Amino acid sequence: MSMEGAFIVLEGIDGVGKTTISKRLGAWLEGRGRKAVLTAEPTEGWLGMAVRRANREDLDPRTEALLFTADRCQHTLAIERLLAEGNVVVSDRYYGSTVAYQGAALERGMGEGAVEWLLAMNRPVVRRPDLTVLLTCDPGAAMRRVGARGDRSKFEREGYLGRVQEIYLMLAGDLGWTVVSSDGPLDEVFERVRRAVQAYV
Ligand code: TMP
Repeated sequence: MSMEGAFIVLEGIDGVGKTTISKRLGAWLEGRGRKAVLTAEPTEGWLGMAVRRANREDLDPRTEALLFTADRCQHTLAIERLLAEGNVVVSDRYYGSTVAYQGAALERGMGEGAVEWLLAMNRPVVRRPDLTVLLTCDPGAAMRRVGARGDRSKFEREGYLGRVQEIYLMLAGDLGWTVVSSDGPLDEVFERVRRAVQAYV
């Protein structure tokens, strides 16, 4: 088994189940004798806090995109250190989140240029993941799950999340991501993700 680091990213709309899958992946990796580090964006650092504040204060989506990307720039440096130490890093969200969420918010004003701008801005800031898994589900079902958590953000509206998922699917096609449906029992969803990850760890 290779003990080189591997960088795995989970993407998908709010309520699709990334966090649960990420924890199960961590446990599975440890069970295989791999050092696994679970991480997430926005981060818990002050830049991540700034992003959350911008979200609460309803700032311009361009400002938000810049803040998410600044948070990611520092996060990428931390990820690269962890990879160099041989860890498998599993990130709950990465640059695809900015392209899909802020792309959906900005495209009304900027058209196709929104996604182009967000991709170009992120290119020098990111480390190419070994594998990105996009979890998909019906946006209505995702909304119901998020509603049950009682902490809805402004990003969690059904029509908006539907568009976010469309952009995600477009990125998945262009960038060769693995698309996994999160419909069905959790054990089955995890099994689909595990099969995709296995080749990289
Ligand atoms: P979380 O619920 O996964 O912690 O993410 C917080 C919210 O921030 C979620 O609604 C997705 C959104 N988000 C963006 O809009 N752009 C980004 O780049 C990231 C990382 C998250």
